[in-house]
Amino acid sequence: MLSAFHLSVVSFPLVVTAALYSHPADVPQTSYDFIVVGAGVGGGVVARRLSEDPGTRTLLIEAGPSNEGILPVEVPLLCTSLSPDTAYDWNYTTTPQRGLDDRVLGYPRGRLLGGSSSINYLAWTRGSRDDYDRLARVSGDAGWAWDALTPFMKSIENFAPGAVDGHNISGQVDRSLHGTSGPLTISMPMDLPTDRFVIGTTQQLKEFPFVEDMNSGNPIGIGYGQNTIKNGTRDSSATAYILPALASNLTLDVLVNSQVLRVLQTGSVDGVPIFRGVQFAASANGTVFTINATREVILSAGSVATPQLLLLSGIGNSTRLKQTGIRPIVNLPDVGQNMQDHPLLGNIFNVHTSNITTDDIRRNNTVASEELAQWQTSRTGLLTLPPSAQIGWFRVPDKSGIFAGGDPSAGPTSPHFEFIVADGFAATQQAFPSTGRFFTLVTVVVSPKSRGAVTLASSDPFANPVVDPNFFSAPVDIAIMREAVKAARRFVSAPVWKGYIESEFGPFGSAHTDAEIEDYVRNFTITVFHPAGTAAMAPFNATHGVVNPDLTVKGTVGLRVVDASIFPFIPAAHTQAPTYIIAERAASLIRNSTGTAPANANATAPCEGNTTAAVSGASSLADSSV
Ligand SMILES: Cc1cc2nc3c(=O)[nH]c(=O)nc-3n(C[C@H](O)[C@H](O)[C@H](O)COP(=O)(O)OP(=O)(O)OC[C@H]3O[C@@H](n4cnc5c(N)ncnc54)[C@H](O)[C@@H]3O)c2cc1C
Ligand SMILES: *[C@@H]1O[C@H](CO)[C@@H](O)[C@H](O)[C@H]1NC(C)=O
Ligand SMILES: *[C@@H]1O[C@H](CO)[C@@H](O)[C@H](O)[C@H]1NC(C)=O
Ligand SMILES: *[C@@H]1O[C@H](CO)[C@@H](O)[C@H](O)[C@H]1NC(C)=O
Ligand SMILES: *[C@@H]1O[C@H](CO)[C@@H](O)[C@H](O)[C@H]1NC(C)=O
Ligand SMILES: *[C@@H]1O[C@H](CO)[C@@H](O)[C@H](O)[C@H]1NC(C)=O
Ligand SMILES: *[C@@H]1O[C@H](CO)[C@@H](O)[C@H](O)[C@H]1NC(C)=O
Ligand SMILES: *[C@@H]1O[C@H](CO)[C@@H](O)[C@H](O)[C@H]1NC(C)=O
Ligand SMILES: *[C@@H]1O[C@H](CO)[C@@H](O)[C@H](O)[C@H]1NC(C)=O
Ligand SMILES: *[C@@H]1O[C@H](CO)[C@@H](O)[C@H](O)[C@H]1NC(C)=O
Ligand SMILES: *[C@@H]1O[C@H](CO)[C@@H](O)[C@H](O)[C@H]1NC(C)=O
Ligand SMILES: *[C@@H]1O[C@H](CO)[C@@H](O)[C@H](O)[C@H]1NC(C)=O
Ligand SMILES: *[C@@H]1O[C@H](CO)[C@@H](O)[C@H](O)[C@H]1NC(C)=O
Repeated sequence: MLSAFHLSVVSFPLVVTAALYSHPADVPQTSYDFIVVGAGVGGGVVARRLSEDPGTRTLLIEAGPSNEGILPVEVPLLCTSLSPDTAYDWNYTTTPQRGLDDRVLGYPRGRLLGGSSSINYLAWTRGSRDDYDRLARVSGDAGWAWDALTPFMKSIENFAPGAVDGHNISGQVDRSLHGTSGPLTISMPMDLPTDRFVIGTTQQLKEFPFVEDMNSGNPIGIGYGQNTIKNGTRDSSATAYILPALASNLTLDVLVNSQVLRVLQTGSVDGVPIFRGVQFAASANGTVFTINATREVILSAGSVATPQLLLLSGIGNSTRLKQTGIRPIVNLPDVGQNMQDHPLLGNIFNVHTSNITTDDIRRNNTVASEELAQWQTSRTGLLTLPPSAQIGWFRVPDKSGIFAGGDPSAGPTSPHFEFIVADGFAATQQAFPSTGRFFTLVTVVVSPKSRGAVTLASSDPFANPVVDPNFFSAPVDIAIMREAVKAARRFVSAPVWKGYIESEFGPFGSAHTDAEIEDYVRNFTITVFHPAGTAAMAPFNATHGVVNPDLTVKGTVGLRVVDASIFPFIPAAHTQAPTYIIAERAASLIRNSTGTAPANANATAPCEGNTTAAVSGASSLADSSV
């Protein structure tokens, strides 16, 4: 979407701030207390919060460039032009997805300061009370429960007092649930002509109740979206956390254009390996630099690159590491496993309207230029819009019978599926028609049971890993998507839509029986870009999982993970807010820690061959022949 348009406006000069370094050779110190790898959501939050302590010095290393001066990064509605396959994307692709008719999907991840928060679609959704209470339950740490995390949730937010267009937002959000003095601005979008149809439906069909604030802990219903937009401009971990830390001269150095290759063992305590060394380079052929942290290395490279880095560092399934030509150091078979993502499907309708929609910006250069001029002078107009105006969260009733094998959701406040309301043609799997106006009701499975994996293709840090989200491998997931498509049809059958919705567009229109709907789902589903779970949290003494409840990597000293990979179950939410939330608590845990080996790291003595310190427990001991 909008790709032709953005090409003409994309290149602006890079502004380099004082303590932002662009080459590995420029890093001013030879050692740091903390080294944070990856400047996305997790890394941006942790680096900023650690650097608020004047007694410590933190280095944040990012593979991609600075986020500054890139117009489509700033303009909310141009977000869809930032991926896939751009200068700000890692350009991953998935393995052929058996559940999607063997299609290979583009799999975008942000590669610039701010990480995916600099290219994402701006939706701000915390998830449900049950999501976090389940995290507390399965990790054995009550600090991850909804109520315990509420202060951290508020500490992120600076909730804007008014909407982007200044309309009255009372009844569209409960501001008392939000923070108003945190770094990240959250705001309500401008009004759209389609709002009255969506809200009207909540008054006409009991099945789709209105939810005043989907970030209350119980999101069930449909309501106005909240977005990471400040004065009509994207707000990200770069603009809200990292750059202000540099501007206020906190104890932070930021290095961009530098890719971390692996973390290095720097010693051991009681047989447990210490990982405080970081190796990095500007390019595949560039000089390799090494720097040590005196306290901790924090991996925040995201759900694809964090497991890749752990594996490249010798932390993973020892048998497989050896097969890939990597010397195993810690046998942790779950690294890269347990991958989860949300499958997404755009259900498109032809509509009858004389009003300008986002479709006109895509195909009419006059409209596009006028809107850009308006955005540049006043930060108003259609370009301030996020891709979705309203978002809905719903459960499939038990009586549907699809949960015979168990309900994958976290509990009654957690939805099974989501609606994303888009005022225009929003489905990248189909060609954008040259005429007509459209409305899209996107459906997403948000409590999936399917599990995939990130594995190494090679021991070369510059080779992309193998990414397999394994969509629809669990039959319940396709059943949920099928029920979501039927729900989308019921939604637009409310009388309020009469005269607006004309017909179903494309293959959607001929999918009626369950079998036809499933066929349509497999042919057109893509990702909503939410990989999670590849370095999952598990209790301190568990034999499974990758990180402990304090996010230290099992069987190691000096190494933590803080990003979306730590969720054992993907939250039923767009994943940026959950990642900001866990990162705020992680930063507090790190600041409170003594910096010595956690008492409960509990790694056994090195195994036979003396190279592998196994985490205690049956699964790793069974594999200890290395
Ligand atoms: C196109 C798109 C749209 C999205 N839309 C939404 C949305 O609307 N709402 C929402 O809530 N979420 C959305 N998301 C998801 C959300 O942005 C992510 O869940 C969130 O950013 C995850 O944070 P993270 O810290 O795990 O990883 P990231 O934010 O991806 O950060 C990882 C960082 O590590 C860097 N890195 C990786 N490897 C290395 C290395 N070897 N050396 C140095 N640096 C490295 C990367 O370049 C990146 O900057 C979207 C994501 C994408 C890609
Ligand atoms: C992704 O593809 C774009 C366009 O081809 C390219 O400019 C960019 O360098 C690629 N990213 C990476 C990490 O290779
Ligand atoms: C292991 O952890 C679980 C959950 O935290 C706890 O119930 C159990 O007592 C622990 N076992 C040991 C041996 O510490
Ligand atoms: C920034 O902080 C350092 C010490 O941390 C100090 O030496 C320097 O003068 C400060 N610079 C500014 C512009 O305040
Ligand atoms: C990092 O620590 C290791 C182990 O103590 C040491 O051999 C190495 O020289 C250190 N590297 C740097 C750059 O300080
Ligand atoms: C690195 O070197 C190899 C061989 O010397 C060359 O083929 C490759 O193009 C180089 N890559 C980059 C990024 O310069
Ligand atoms: C480790 O990988 C090997 C080879 O792929 C596999 O057979 C084995 O089951 C894995 N071990 C665990 C504990 O997952
Ligand atoms: C066009 O927009 C106006 C103002 O927002 C609204 O009153 C009108 O109903 C819309 N027309 C259609 C056909 O949607
Ligand atoms: C493009 O938009 C302008 C301004 O709204 C309008 O006058 C013109 O007719 C449109 N062009 C086309 C081809 O629709
Ligand atoms: C918003 O941006 C516009 C355009 O740059 C500027 O004139 C205005 O002062 C900004 N408003 C706020 C509240 O920052
Ligand atoms: C889905 O794709 C298959 C082939 O891959 C094709 O036979 C079928 O007609 C398609 N169904 C729809 C609804 O597009
Ligand atoms: C860290 O310590 C402070 C002060 O004692 C406390 O308020 C905070 O809750 C602690 N953080 C965590 C995550 O336990
Ligand atoms: C470490 O593991 C051993 C053996 O499983 C167990 O007896 C011991 O209690 C554990 N120690 C801690 C601190 O969890």
